[in-house]
Amino acid sequence: MNIKLSGISEQKLKKAPFFSGGARELVRAPHRFFLQLTRDYGDVVQYRATPESAFLLNHPDFVKHILVSNGRNYNKDTHLNKYMLQAVTGQGLLTSENPLWRKQRRLIQPFFHRRYLANFADLMVAATDETLARLDRYASQNEPFDMANEMMTLTLNIVSRALFGYDTDAQAEQIGEAVNTLIEIAKPKRKRFQETLKVLDAIVFDIIQRRRQRPHAEQHDLLDMLIQARYEDSGEGMSDQQIRDEVMSLLIAGHETTANTLGWLWYLLAQQPAVVSQIEAELEAVLNGRTVTVADFPQLLYCDKVIKEAMRLYPSAWSISRRALVDDEIGGYEIPKGAIVAVSPYTLHRHPTFWPEPEKFDPERFTPEQEAARHRYAYIPFGAGARKCIGDQFALMESIIILPTTLQRFRLQLVPDHPIDEHALVTLRARQGILMTATVR
Ligand code: HEM
Repeated sequence: MNIKLSGISEQKLKKAPFFSGGARELVRAPHRFFLQLTRDYGDVVQYRATPESAFLLNHPDFVKHILVSNGRNYNKDTHLNKYMLQAVTGQGLLTSENPLWRKQRRLIQPFFHRRYLANFADLMVAATDETLARLDRYASQNEPFDMANEMMTLTLNIVSRALFGYDTDAQAEQIGEAVNTLIEIAKPKRKRFQETLKVLDAIVFDIIQRRRQRPHAEQHDLLDMLIQARYEDSGEGMSDQQIRDEVMSLLIAGHETTANTLGWLWYLLAQQPAVVSQIEAELEAVLNGRTVTVADFPQLLYCDKVIKEAMRLYPSAWSISRRALVDDEIGGYEIPKGAIVAVSPYTLHRHPTFWPEPEKFDPERFTPEQEAARHRYAYIPFGAGARKCIGDQFALMESIIILPTTLQRFRLQLVPDHPIDEHALVTLRARQGILMTATVR
């Protein structure tokens, strides 16, 4: 094949090693398949996938190249975006491209600033209390429950209340069910998927229209902010359709990712009594039994490290892919125009050069010194560059509220012999859930 390398040095580029097998592994456990590929072939390998082959890039320098420094050469024209996500999120932040994406990101970014997010702390605590009330019942009856499922309900409650406020509580359940059904089916061509989406659309458009007619002067949920936002150049606001697409993007991107992170966190902690003791000591010292507030966050340093380490081992967004717009060169390898490139936080977070004893759970990897010494792009649970997660602070805030609040009230144990099977769909979840029992402290 004669590849024209526009704007690329004359040096002779290497062809990446090509692994032509593995179709079954790719379907069954793609994250483990990726890990094996990096072990067998190193930091660059091409693999066969449907409908087209792709390059797996597993070095922080390459992450920096495709997501940051040469990010403009890569877009999101991938199978996942075009055929799955976009069916729900339309032209919202998650799946849109320039110039629309840039315009929208600029408009919406300020609402995810910590200053605004602090307003959501109370609703996060209240939603957590509802989940803990359920755990209380399980505990009193000594009944096992699926913690992964509890976290799904909780993070969906949080993101839908942050979006719509409390005035839609009656509909929150319907919204929740619809979002869950869409995620579960994950096949936009299915009739049930389309019907569910229609129901969800009707609810969301209805809320938008009612809100436009009766703006909430006092209430500042995300929907108010989206409705009131004005583009700098035109002074106009978003259309209903655009607001709908952004709402869907935030629901889809903000719910399951955070739920999985928390589910895996509980799974890890149940196997780490020494870590739990250290968290308890921190909670005792900082909170002394009272409810966590935003002002406490900077003191909960050990909790922060634990959450980061959980996201290292179980990055909910386990794979991030892009399409090359023109020919490129990465680490001396040719990346032809149109190629799909993937980076996998799951494999990158286990790269032995950057993470000694990669499978070991060790929050001390996240001391300020260690973080400063490590390659900046060796850890990317929220992606990197211009399209980095807009909700990263939102998710961290949820986690640093839910972790202490739960541990102050309960001890949690895994149900022995319940299989824990990593299931890498769009996000990394536990296939059969995470069965636990709780005892009240
Ligand atoms: C632990 C939880 C979360 C994880 C692991 C996560 C991960 C990610 C990653 C890796 C990306 C980049 C994808 C790419 O480059 O292709 C992303 C984008 C995004 N996330 Fe998150 N996310 C989380 C929570 C949230 C929350 C809570 C929200 C909103 C409330 C959110 C909203 C978004 C949006 C809108 C985008 C697209 C941003 C853009 O392209 O401008 N995420 N997320």
